[in-house]
Amino acid sequence: METMPKISTPLPGPEAQKILALDKQYVSPSYTRDYPLVAKRGQGAIVEDVDGNFFLDFAAGIAVVSTGHCHPDVVRVIQKQAETLIHMSGTDFYYPLMAQLAEKMAKITPGTFAKKVAFGNSGAEAMEAAMKIARYHTKRHRFIAFLGSFHGRTMGALSLTASKAVQRRGFGPLVPGVVHVPYANPYRCPQGHRAPECVCDCVCSDLLERQLFKTAVPPDEVAAIIVEPIQGEGGYIIPPPRFLDNLRQLCDKYGILLIFDEVQCGMGRTGKMWACDHVGVVPDIIITAKGIASGLPLGVTVARAELMDWGPGAHASTFGGNPVACAAALETIRLLEEKYVANSARVGEYIMGRIVDWPHKHRTVGQVRGRGLMIGIELVKSQETREPNPEARNKVIDRAFNLGLLVLGCGESTIRLMPPLMINREQADFAIDTLNRCITEAEQ
Ligand SMILES: Cc1ncc(COP(=O)(O)O)c(C=O)c1O
Repeated sequence: METMPKISTPLPGPEAQKILALDKQYVSPSYTRDYPLVAKRGQGAIVEDVDGNFFLDFAAGIAVVSTGHCHPDVVRVIQKQAETLIHMSGTDFYYPLMAQLAEKMAKITPGTFAKKVAFGNSGAEAMEAAMKIARYHTKRHRFIAFLGSFHGRTMGALSLTASKAVQRRGFGPLVPGVVHVPYANPYRCPQGHRAPECVCDCVCSDLLERQLFKTAVPPDEVAAIIVEPIQGEGGYIIPPPRFLDNLRQLCDKYGILLIFDEVQCGMGRTGKMWACDHVGVVPDIIITAKGIASGLPLGVTVARAELMDWGPGAHASTFGGNPVACAAALETIRLLEEKYVANSARVGEYIMGRIVDWPHKHRTVGQVRGRGLMIGIELVKSQETREPNPEARNKVIDRAFNLGLLVLGCGESTIRLMPPLMINREQADFAIDTLNRCITEAEQ
């Protein structure tokens, strides 16, 4: 398998075109495909398409293949587990891997208190469990979430999601009781301030406490505040350091639970195991999915033990935490702890060092921001007005694909870099040089 991109046919190639036609005929048109990659094989950070073209994958199956595609150690444990026990259903029986992964998750998530763990199959399911725990335990019905946030597409999770209108249009009425407030985005301050004066304290003190809690939302009816410590689909937005701590204090004051959605920013992506580790704020409930099992479906909800006071039958999932996914997760976590979280920090810092001056080099680059290998490059029409530039962003993504680099967008006009956490410098350099070229071309 190649270790660098190699494009040898026009894209999409002849075999890819056949699959695109079949897909168009039978597959739900609700999926968003930015460009016609038809994958056949993956190894490390490289994906081969059905026509023998090789791409460098800076999307990682949307932040999923944290250890790289088909990591040999992960493949080995999956194969071994598949030969031993594929399914049993932890909802009705016991097996060692579920209890062992629960113990591991309790140990590696923030907070030294006792915890309990519920298993599902996706980020959305992990969020459903978190919402249900919060309502059940607090006996309150309201939730506060943030504009720009993405928490999944099942009805409960979708009620919290406010990333793009198309994701909600036509599906209402959604779960009642959810109120959205602006996220603390220092580049687009909700109050119109500019960094460094904007520290986004306004979201907690003004918007939530002084306005919302005094008018429309009695705080003693709020079960939980749900927040991504770094906003993912909303644009790879890193809030100011005090933001999560302010939320923690507000929650403590009013008996509200604080739920961190680390589905995208967790599992080592930011150069620490959890994005919230960067600011040392501990939630009551944390959810994760995506990168946890290197590509097998698994969603995990970890809560303070006393919050899971529900009894048998209150919540479960037939497949959630099946043995093969649990085995893949334990091996993934072993690899993350051994080397890939550190690699994410190291290579992420290297990439940031090379692109941090792009707002000076490129007139369409408004801001470059990131932690570890969760990096966003926001394109704007004018650096002064900061008007989003989705046309340029889309051009860059499309051109990068044709040059052998897979990247995706997020927010209105941000390019997101979320490669597998095992990439090396040579691959990072290829991605940076390719993006530099594509942005330069898009500016012509
Ligand atoms: C922060 C966050 N939460 C939840 C989800 C939903 O995860 P899933 O697609 O596995 O349901 C996503 C997916 O992109 C996400 O980024």
